[in-house]
Amino acid sequence: FEKMNINKIKKAKNIKKLTMITAYDALFAKLFEELADIILVGDSLNMSFAGKPDTLSATLEQMIYHTNAVCNGAKEAFVVIDMPFGTYINKDEALKNAIRAYQETNAAAVKIEGGEDRADIVSHLTSNSIAVMGHIGLMPQYVRSEGGYKVRGKTQEDKEQLLRDAIAIEKAGAFCIVIEGVMSDVAKEITQAVSIPTIGIGAGKETDGQVLVWSDMLGFFEEFKPKFVRHYLDGAKLVKDAVSSYKSDIQNKTFPSKEEEY
Ligand code: KIV
Ligand code: NA
Repeated sequence: FEKMNINKIKKAKNIKKLTMITAYDALFAKLFEELADIILVGDSLNMSFAGKPDTLSATLEQMIYHTNAVCNGAKEAFVVIDMPFGTYINKDEALKNAIRAYQETNAAAVKIEGGEDRADIVSHLTSNSIAVMGHIGLMPQYVRSEGGYKVRGKTQEDKEQLLRDAIAIEKAGAFCIVIEGVMSDVAKEITQAVSIPTIGIGAGKETDGQVLVWSDMLGFFEEFKPKFVRHYLDGAKLVKDAVSSYKSDIQNKTFPSKEEEY
């Protein structure tokens, strides 16, 4: 398969749709490596891996630990590490922490949430040779300050803000932008307004690519299915059925068999 880099990702715009998926460990990263253009070590791991209510308590140390696991499992993948909440509060902190991400992992790029308000930070990183993926629209790290997760782009004013956000992030040198939880007509306009690829999640089909959290798309998270998630596997049922078979084999004493003994 073709190993990706930021130039190939940028060139994909209007040529082929980009596939991005999250991974948090070596085992799944290896399974996704040949299929995904980009593997994201999302701070969503704080929720789906660590069981926390939001992404805000993820630490840089945890992100680095999981990114190393992903890079060890998928040595040829283009891996992006999410900069967690609080690690890019100003230009100096952002650069110091992004350099740690680069020096302590093999990640190809970092991802930062924010639009116009964070363009100076994105610009500081890109001018110091850090590849940055932007993230605009519904930004999970803003959940507490916004009082919840809200779909963006419902008013003319918000649409104009989102367009300014995307353009500011492109100008700041980002190679790609995630657009999350945005009305699909607005995501389409943003995609047409920038020359770098957009990768949507809950943003309709007109973005240059799509991203889903692996445990959501494979159906391992049973409590709740957001409208934008498609289940490609009934992971929870498959796992429970398998463990149930294991349990009954243990109870009936049919596991292990003669062939499975020493
Ligand atoms: O943390 C994450 O998984 C993300 C994606 C949903 C874009 O930021
Ligand atoms: Na994230």
